[in-house]
Amino acid sequence: MSATGAAKALTPPDIAARKGKMPLVCLTAYTTPIAKLVDDHCDVVLVGDSVGMVLHGLPSTVGVTLEMMIMHGKAVRRGLEKAVMVVDMPFGSYEESPEQAFRNAVRLMAETGCSAIKLEGGESIAGTIRFLAMRGVPVMGHVGLTPQAVNTFGGYRVQGRGEDAEHIVRDAITVSEAGAFAVVLEKIPEALARQITQEVAIPTIGIGASPACDGQILVVDDMLGLFGTFRPKFVKRFAELAGTAEAAIATYASEVRERRFPAVEHVFGDVPRPVNGGEAA
Ligand code: KIV
Repeated sequence: MSATGAAKALTPPDIAARKGKMPLVCLTAYTTPIAKLVDDHCDVVLVGDSVGMVLHGLPSTVGVTLEMMIMHGKAVRRGLEKAVMVVDMPFGSYEESPEQAFRNAVRLMAETGCSAIKLEGGESIAGTIRFLAMRGVPVMGHVGLTPQAVNTFGGYRVQGRGEDAEHIVRDAITVSEAGAFAVVLEKIPEALARQITQEVAIPTIGIGASPACDGQILVVDDMLGLFGTFRPKFVKRFAELAGTAEAAIATYASEVRERRFPAVEHVFGDVPRPVNGGEAA
């Protein structure tokens, strides 16, 4: 429920209709408590396959499974009332054929309750996007740097500088024409993001793709500063929660060692005794 009353649940067509209007606010979430925190403030909440690196310590998103996405999707669903929930299709769950993609997309939607899926790729995957979109699966595209292809790219470098740019424009246009309702542009130069945003009919959602996009997305753990050392250029840290959490843990550790925690107010007696506000415990 929103702070201002009953929340109207947004849908993929609502997101598509925001093209060129107020910027779309998008974040990732992988758990119920974070989903509850972001829901009121976001238009789209993505259960990204970045979960593999952020929560499971994997070296890339390549090892993320459909089962992992379903488990985190179910958790996020329990925390959302308003935002459109999108779940990433993990590497290997959609590339083989449109039929494989449809089967796995249906599992993601039926088992998690998400209203859309996201998959990576441009021209090479457009036939699959069309197949899904025509069968009741709203699709968010993802072009530019596509992290599932890290082994092909040889790293996480900026894409679309020089000759590569035209290819990324074609990718975005094809994804849009195939029926996607929005497309993520990852780690591309500002001029290219502006050109794509002008040329495609659907909202562009940037991550490392400048303010020229129709919206922005970040990995929530990155923008909250939950990592000590990971600081990509395109992430602004809106908080430094890792430092705050570590200080709290250090205080807990010293209070336990010095027998200062638990204190009297945390301890049960043989008979209930009044605590804060007079309530007996
Ligand atoms: O997996 C992910 O988190 C993403 C980004 C676009 C944020 O795909």
